[in-house]
Amino acid sequence: MSKHDLYLYPVWLRIWHGVNAICIILLIVTGISMQYGNLDYPFLPFKTSVLLHNFAGVTAAIGYAVFLVYNHFSGNGKQYVPNYRGFAGRISKQGMYYLYGYFKGEPKPFPITKENKFNPLQRFSYLTTMYVFVPIIAITGVGLLYPELIFTKIFNIGGVQLTAVLHSVMGFFISLFLIVHLYVASIGKNPLRNYKSIINGYHAADDH
Ligand code: HEM
Repeated sequence: MSKHDLYLYPVWLRIWHGVNAICIILLIVTGISMQYGNLDYPFLPFKTSVLLHNFAGVTAAIGYAVFLVYNHFSGNGKQYVPNYRGFAGRISKQGMYYLYGYFKGEPKPFPITKENKFNPLQRFSYLTTMYVFVPIIAITGVGLLYPELIFTKIFNIGGVQLTAVLHSVMGFFISLFLIVHLYVASIGKNPLRNYKSIINGYHAADDH
C-alpha cells in the first residue's frame, strides 16, 4: 500500500456492501428458481427458495435502511448527486472510454479523487440502482410478504399481480446492473484491483 492510495470506502460501507452483495446474489438465484423452476424439477426445492428469498430480502432491506442513513449522514451521499450540466457529453465521453479509449491505453477522462470517486456513468448507475431500483424492489417485496397491505385492484388489474410484475422487473434491472458492475469493476491496471479496494477500503495510487 502506498501513501498516495485513496481511502474511498469506509468500514460501514464495506460491511454494507459485502452483506448486500451476498443477499442480492442469493435473491437472484432463488428468485430465478421460483420464477422459472418447474415444480417437478426445480433448480432449488421451492420451499427452500421461498425461505432463503424471504430471509435474504429482509436482511437486504434492513441493510438498505442502514445504507440510507449512513450515506446521508457520513457525506458519502454527495458522491451520488448527479451534475446535470453537460450530463450527456460527460456520459458519452466515459462511454467512449469504456468502449474504445481503455483498450487504446488512453488516460481516464475523469480521474478518481476523494471528492469525485465515481465517473459520470458510475454515478448515474449507482444513483438509479440505489435510489430507484432497490427502494422499489424492497417496497414491492414487503407488499408480497404482507399481501393484505396491497390494494386489491389498481385500474382493474389485481394489486398483487401488478406488485409481483414490478418486483420481477426491478429484479431484472438489478441483475443487469450487477453484470455490468462486475465487468466495469474489473477495468483498471489489474482486473482484481478494484475488487480488493472494496474489501480493504483503498484505491491504488497508480490507478486514479
Ligand atoms: C459479488 C458482487 C459484487 C462485487 C464483486 C462488487 C464490487 C464492487 C467494487 C469493486 C466496488 C468499488 C469500485 C467501483 O465503484 O467500481 C463497488 C462499489 C459499489 N457497489 Fe458493488 N459489487 C458487488 C455487488 C453489488 C450489488 C449487488 C450492489 C447493489 C445492488 C452494489 C452496489 C455498489 C455501490 C452502490 C458501490 C459504490 C459504493 C460507494 O462507494 O458509495 N454492488 N462494488
